[in-house]
Amino acid sequence: MTAYNAITPVEVQASARLIKLMRSAPGGNRLEQVMWAASGSEAIQKALWAAIAHDRSRPMIIATRYGFHGKKGLSNAVTGCETDAERDPRVKFISFPMAECRDISLRGQAFDFTPYQKELDALHHQYGMRLGTLITEPYLGGGGSYHPPKEYLQGLEQFCRKHDIVFIIDEVQANFGRTGAMFAFETYGLEPDIVVLGKGLGNGIPVAAAVGKTDIFDSLGYGEASDTWSANPLCCAAVQATLDAFERADILGQMKPSSAIIERGLVALKELPFVANVRGENGGMVWGVEMRDCAERTAAEWANAFVLACYQGDSSESDGIHLLGPLAKKVVRVSPPLVITPDEATAAVALMLRSARRLSA
Ligand SMILES: Cc1ncc(COP(=O)(O)O)c(C=O)c1O
Repeated sequence: MTAYNAITPVEVQASARLIKLMRSAPGGNRLEQVMWAASGSEAIQKALWAAIAHDRSRPMIIATRYGFHGKKGLSNAVTGCETDAERDPRVKFISFPMAECRDISLRGQAFDFTPYQKELDALHHQYGMRLGTLITEPYLGGGGSYHPPKEYLQGLEQFCRKHDIVFIIDEVQANFGRTGAMFAFETYGLEPDIVVLGKGLGNGIPVAAAVGKTDIFDSLGYGEASDTWSANPLCCAAVQATLDAFERADILGQMKPSSAIIERGLVALKELPFVANVRGENGGMVWGVEMRDCAERTAAEWANAFVLACYQGDSSESDGIHLLGPLAKKVVRVSPPLVITPDEATAAVALMLRSARRLSA
């Protein structure tokens, strides 16, 4: 199972198939090489190591505020915001357009990048050529499911191009279909230098990877990013099995009706006084239901109560739903398997509505 000082055929095949798939996607033409990792945070760490090594006179990193990239090392350094404890002085945060995408009803509204451009320009004015890397999630996942207008991410990318900054998209959560396309960089019309993959990549087997430009990855010295388990044969086989599954069936096409059913069902939850906003990927498979302080309970308490009520279901043993929350102290995440059928989706949102109504009764 170790593979750090040898390359196996299954690793070569998995790398080749992944690169072929990503390069054939619109915006994927910078993705030339795979650097395997054993977890999402480790892949982020390696991507950032490579970006910093690419030009060691430019060690500073711009990160988007309230992003989640992991809990360890540099992945933790680019997570959250400047007021969190023990910040790495190399990392500077910029705003994410949370207000502009706080609810699904705001989708498609005109977006003004000017304030964000000003933040970027101010950073550039202050730190100039010391800024070498920008990292963002396509949508804030752990931060509470905020799905931004495309123009925001495209504006970040343009800034990177103008100043020759390495542009990293963290798709650890978004990859392999969550946003409705195989990769979020397709959904958002981006051309990243490095894309970080995880979670769905191995469909349950713990594998992650950074995929990016060869000249960036080659900046790392021999063995600098190696470890015992990365690229082990089981993980590489799991990646290939996942790719096989996507090749055999039109998983993304088949999920669209379920996506529409779930979105309608979640929007209907807004009839409850404790549900503030519903957000999600248009045609994708991830949403956040934001609670508000209401009656005697805080938003976090409503979120916990809702998660528990859905889990318990209607009191028979077999009908509960497992949700996640509260994220950011107030948001419940709904992130079903991509293969959920329309019947299952219909039953699930009906159960959520019954559970929510019971809570407010
Ligand atoms: C966007 C994003 N990046 C990175 C990570 C970290 O991945 P891992 O938990 O595998 O270290 C996560 C995990 O939730 C994530 O959602």
